[in-house]
Amino acid sequence: MTDTLRPHDAVTNPYLVGNMAPVEHEVTAFDLPVTGTIPADLEGRWLRNGPNPRSEVDPRTHHWFLGDGMVHGVRLRGGRAEWYRNRYVSNDDSPGPNTNVGGFAGTTWAMVEAGSPPVELDYELNSLGVNRFHDTLTGPFSAHPKFDPTTGELHAMGYHWPDLVDHLQYVVVGRDGRVAKTIDIPVADMPMVHDMSLTPTYAVVYDLPVTVSFDVIGKGFSFPFAWNPDRAARVGLLPRLGTADDVIWCDVDPCYVFHPLNAYDAPDGTVVVDLCRYDSMMVDNFNGPFSEVLPTFDRWTIDPVARRVTETRIDDRPQEFPRHNPRVGLQQHRYGYTSEVSPGAENLHGAIIKIDVEQRTTQAHEFGHGRGGAEPVVVPKADGVAEDDCWILTVVYDVATDASELCILDAADITATEVARIKLPQRVPYGFHGNWVADSSVAPR
Ligand SMILES: [Fe+2]
Repeated sequence: MTDTLRPHDAVTNPYLVGNMAPVEHEVTAFDLPVTGTIPADLEGRWLRNGPNPRSEVDPRTHHWFLGDGMVHGVRLRGGRAEWYRNRYVSNDDSPGPNTNVGGFAGTTWAMVEAGSPPVELDYELNSLGVNRFHDTLTGPFSAHPKFDPTTGELHAMGYHWPDLVDHLQYVVVGRDGRVAKTIDIPVADMPMVHDMSLTPTYAVVYDLPVTVSFDVIGKGFSFPFAWNPDRAARVGLLPRLGTADDVIWCDVDPCYVFHPLNAYDAPDGTVVVDLCRYDSMMVDNFNGPFSEVLPTFDRWTIDPVARRVTETRIDDRPQEFPRHNPRVGLQQHRYGYTSEVSPGAENLHGAIIKIDVEQRTTQAHEFGHGRGGAEPVVVPKADGVAEDDCWILTVVYDVATDASELCILDAADITATEVARIKLPQRVPYGFHGNWVADSSVAPR
């Protein structure tokens, strides 16, 4: 029998201590204290999802990617932070999705990969139950669907361990919120496919050598994936109007990618994608990332004729959670925004980095000693014209005070003092992804 500890007592698993540890209460607070000025054009909700295990877990085998989902949200309107709420994501019979939260087709969704379907949330973040896109989703979904602003479609690359062992499932959801197309893509060894890319021409498949490991399962770890040194790495271009037989596979050097930034079709027929790349992933540590190899910010230029990927390093600082202005989605972008990651430091996160991929320069917004900003959510200004006419929303954790703030930066002047700092009533544990859901995009209540 294994020893179990309550999460807040855990001392042996770095993903259960400090700001990795879950919070214990669902909190509702109104009229949050603000330093600075909340832009008046921000009317909606900042939402963020992450794992928050509420039951006893074994600290020796617990993986950061597991645990009940918890959504944190702040509602902004009229220059005020009207409320903060955090709520468990409830999936009835299993831990609720814990990886991403966002709006689509007038609905708010909590999402995860590997088979668990999206859960619909109401405006106040209460779970309304599993939503399979009006019962049209029969297989897995993803925590990282890609929105096509031209067609209004949502595209996802799903996998489902152990129900689907020999293929991925590519799903397109129409603007009506119903699945319009599903394509099975054969792959070997059941790779962990965390994300995808999308251009007007192709869906991009990341078939990389982190695969199901029976050795890891046999050792009792809770997350069954590990680095597979014997397996090739490849990236596939699935023509959006094609079938699985049409995928153009291109070999790449062994690596792992959780998150691409934007992707686009270049005039010369290549596909360009910027991404955070790891030389390897989960080689010896089966409890979570950031413990072995750190990510760099790279560009892949994928040539579908030569079936070759040209890799270029843009920034070698460790950074993750890349985001861009959604208005340039699927089109050529100039700017990316990431969170500096500093594993081993007292704060996992550091600066918010603005990358000019055209000029190959970077700027960073530093938050001060012991303070770091998580995933930068990019919101175009209402009257924005330039690509960086955006607000950056990031939750900042302060080690010294063990407290979190929602900070708003001006992307066009990223090194300037925060535009606004919104004090939250409890810390927000390090987690994964979120989005800005404008009230104008939400179905009438
Ligand atoms: Fe992710």
